[in-house]
Amino acid sequence: MDKSPIIIGSDHAAYHLKEKIRMYLLENGFEIEDAGAINEASVDYPDYGIKVASLVSAGKFHRGILLCGTGLGMSIVANRYSSVRATLCNDLFSAIMGRRHNDSNVLVMGGRVIGDVLAVEILKAWLETPFEGGRHQARIDKFNGMGRNA
Ligand code: RB5
Repeated sequence: MDKSPIIIGSDHAAYHLKEKIRMYLLENGFEIEDAGAINEASVDYPDYGIKVASLVSAGKFHRGILLCGTGLGMSIVANRYSSVRATLCNDLFSAIMGRRHNDSNVLVMGGRVIGDVLAVEILKAWLETPFEGGRHQARIDKFNGMGRNA
């Protein structure tokens, strides 16, 4: 399994989940960069989504994790970055397929949608599932590195 450092960020709505995920990763030998939020005081999800996605897109981190209430806002923000493939995974099947077919490099979950136990199972599946490459790489090549369209 890839044990390279992972950057993680959330807004207030998923702060509790970020802490659970962060503890799980630390206990399992991962190096973590915590981009915030630092508590449950209300903040704006784009600020944290931008921090994490920009560093993954720039290649400073191989993988990132973003959490907000639904996972929707963080997904929208993260996928504006040209080398980010953020996948909203509030179920196990999406986590597995997001790795196998989409080479997901940012895992997004909704802290108000799923419970902590399922979230950790989703995280494990995302960490452990390899990308299949082949035709799926060819499909990614069709949009990878693409700038924003008008
Ligand atoms: C915060 O209230 C909420 O809007 C945010 O966590 C997220 O769900 C946005 O998409």
